[in-house]
Amino acid sequence: MKHIVILISGTGSNMAAILRAAQQQDWAGRLGARVAAVISNRPDAGGLRTAQAAGIATAVVDHRAHADRAAFDAALMAEIDRHDPQGRPALVLLAGFMRILTPGFVAHYAGRLLNIHPSLLPAFPGLHTHQRALDEGCKLAGATVHQVTAELDHGHILAQAAVPVLPGDTADTLAARVLTQEHLIYPRAVAELLRSM
Ligand code: GRF
Repeated sequence: MKHIVILISGTGSNMAAILRAAQQQDWAGRLGARVAAVISNRPDAGGLRTAQAAGIATAVVDHRAHADRAAFDAALMAEIDRHDPQGRPALVLLAGFMRILTPGFVAHYAGRLLNIHPSLLPAFPGLHTHQRALDEGCKLAGATVHQVTAELDHGHILAQAAVPVLPGDTADTLAARVLTQEHLIYPRAVAELLRSM
């Protein structure tokens, strides 16, 4: 059985969608993998409680307790790899994980590190994607699941979903519409990638 580790910083609703998929045996695109751990860089991330309630091991690697980015990433890598019998999980999923990772970290998980980003990449990498889409007058917004490379919010695209931008939308209403699609495409993209591994 392949092992997955999920990294979060906040609510963890994408993480919860993947946990549901992993635990739902008759799901059409079932993962055929076990979520071995959920790790947060923030001790107060709400997703930690959700994961615990689902019976998943959790850990906190607090970035504020480390001198620099390299030291934090080394500690995070050690914590992630501890949760796989082979010493490196099949997949490491960033799910609202709000840290920029070092090239060394990305190279260590080359081909097994995925992210979900709330825009139709390559449009709007970085933060405040929904407000930026509104400011530009976009008629479509959406989300992207992609391989993680050393360049922020770049890397091969595995899945996308688009939603309409509606009159009167705010960044919050648009974010909520996009998020419902994120919960569909992330587990599906993970399942497809696991099947091809
Ligand atoms: C999502 O919109 C995701 O695309 C972005 O951060 C948000 C995290 O939400 N990277 P959640 O923690 O999964 O609920």
